[in-house]
Amino acid sequence: MRLHVADHPLIRHKVTVLRDKNTKSPTFRLLVDELVTLLAYEATRDVRVVEREVETPLTTTTGTAIADPPPIIVPILRAGLGMLDGMTRLLPSAEVGFLGLKRDEETLEAITYANRLPDDLTGRQVFLIDPMLATGGSLVMAIEYVLERGATDVTCVCLLAAPEGIAHVQEKVGDRADVSVVVAQVDEKLNEVGYIVPGLGDAGDRLYGIV
Ligand code: PRP
Ligand code: URA
Repeated sequence: MRLHVADHPLIRHKVTVLRDKNTKSPTFRLLVDELVTLLAYEATRDVRVVEREVETPLTTTTGTAIADPPPIIVPILRAGLGMLDGMTRLLPSAEVGFLGLKRDEETLEAITYANRLPDDLTGRQVFLIDPMLATGGSLVMAIEYVLERGATDVTCVCLLAAPEGIAHVQEKVGDRADVSVVVAQVDEKLNEVGYIVPGLGDAGDRLYGIV
């Protein structure tokens, strides 16, 4: 697994506002969307492309186009939904699948409650999006889910990660060069109830309210 921390002053500024407990949902959603656009730029560096002829007003030249089949973006519900528009804005030809995972707050184990993804992902490039990588249980489940269905190239895009979660993904995924994690910032630790510290709280609740 390759880890890329997308360090940039604009990213640090926007994450700081996200962390602020006084930032309300409308601003929080907007910032998540903006951050994804910045992270997606890094995360799509290895997006598969082909050469494409293009006629300019002056001549013909060889350019680049996203290869077929297009990548699949998979938001991990619910908080990952907040990152979907930002990803599809940069990758409009991508297909979108959905994976609903909920962390049991007692055991911290992830439970799958929904999936709407092709059964066959053979050879597909997949972008998993979820703002929070805490224990890593949810992300590992999602990575295994798509790898079992044949995905060969998985990029996870997260906003905040705990060192414990990164280590867990590393341990489970090992040295597979075809799995990478792009994250805005790596925080200090997990607390005793599995929350990222300093973190930003519950990303799903801050995006969509407490359910
Ligand atoms: C959050 C977050 C991740 C998960 C991270 O989702 O969006 O999916 O927790 O925790 P982990 O790394 O310890 O598995 P949650 O389960 O709270 O669901 P939600 O998005 O519906 O709020
Ligand atoms: N899920 C969140 O939304 N926040 C955390 O800090 C940990 C898991």
